[in-house]
Parts: sequence; C-alpha cells; structure tokens
Amino acid sequence: MKKAVCPGSFDPITNGHLDIISRASKIFDEVTVAVLVNQTKSSLFTVDERITMISEVCQNFKNVKVDSWSGLLVDYCQAKNISIIAKGLRAVSDFDYELQMSQINYQLKGIETLFMSTAPNHSFLSSSVIKEIASYGGDVSSYVPKQILPALTERVSKKVK
Ligand code: PNS
Repeated sequence: MKKAVCPGSFDPITNGHLDIISRASKIFDEVTVAVLVNQTKSSLFTVDERITMISEVCQNFKNVKVDSWSGLLVDYCQAKNISIIAKGLRAVSDFDYELQMSQINYQLKGIETLFMSTAPNHSFLSSSVIKEIASYGGDVSSYVPKQILPALTERVSKKVK
C-alpha cells in the first residue's frame, strides 16, 4: 500500500491545502493529513480544533486520515511506515525552503518528497494571509472551505477585541 503524508500547520486549512490533499488522495492508497505542532509559532486554533476542521472538510475522501504530531516529520513517517511527503509548491518563493526541507528529510531518514504545483487560483493563498484578511473583516469565503468559515470569523473577531 502506497502511503503519503500531507504535513502542515493548517491554522486553518485553506482551499489550497484541500486541493493538494484531494489530488494526493488520487495518487496514493492512503493519505494522512498531519497537523505538526510547532511550539515556537502561536496559533489561532488548537491542534484538536484543527483536526476537527480538517476531518470535517475531508470526510468525503475515503482514503484520507487526520492525525497530529509533535516532533520531526521524518520520525512520524517512520513510526507510521509512510515513505512519501506530499506538498504543494505555490511559487518560486516557496522553493528554497521546501528544497532544503526535502533534502533534510531525505538525508535524515530517506523519506522522499513529492511536490505538486499549486493550482494557479490558489498560488497566493496561505493561512497567514487568510487570517490577516479575516481579522480586518475582509471576505475570505472563496479561500477556505465553507465549513470552517463560521469558526474562523468567530475566532478572529474575538482576537481583535
Ligand atoms: O504549514 P507549514 O507551517 O508551512 O508546515 C511546515 C511543516 C509543519 C511541514 C514543517 O515545519 C515541518 O515539517 N515541521 C516538523 C519539524 C521537522 O520535521 N522539521 C524539518 C527538519 S528541520
């Protein structure tokens, strides 16, 4: 069985993430969306909230699972017997960092990274940009799955006050 992991912070999941997860689910037998816990980054949603949101928006993908991990991604891959990391590449600006990560991950544990080019209509999307637009009351309804919009709107309004 060919298994892949789509790792990220997913704070929150965007339509860009969802597109990559959906496309990966057609390539691999099983895809795990892994919420990586980053102790140094402050987040809008807790890990459990992010897992709940991802599970809801991915419920129609029968071969997609959701999980979380605190530690190195390669250690998660090894623990779960996953040999491929599937990620989206939005623009050249992503390339340097992603190349470095993929080389480190291969060097550390022989884990391969498969890059998929982001759909052009998602190439400018990031969770950070979406949070910023939403915090100023901007319309982000075309950038995030509709199921998470109420939680996002509610959370940013609480933070602004
Ligand atoms: O959505 P993000 O924040 O861009 O995702 C980045 C993520 C979580 C995939 C990356 O930071 C990661 O893999 N973190 C886990 C720690 C790790 O394995 N780092 C690579 C070796 S330094």
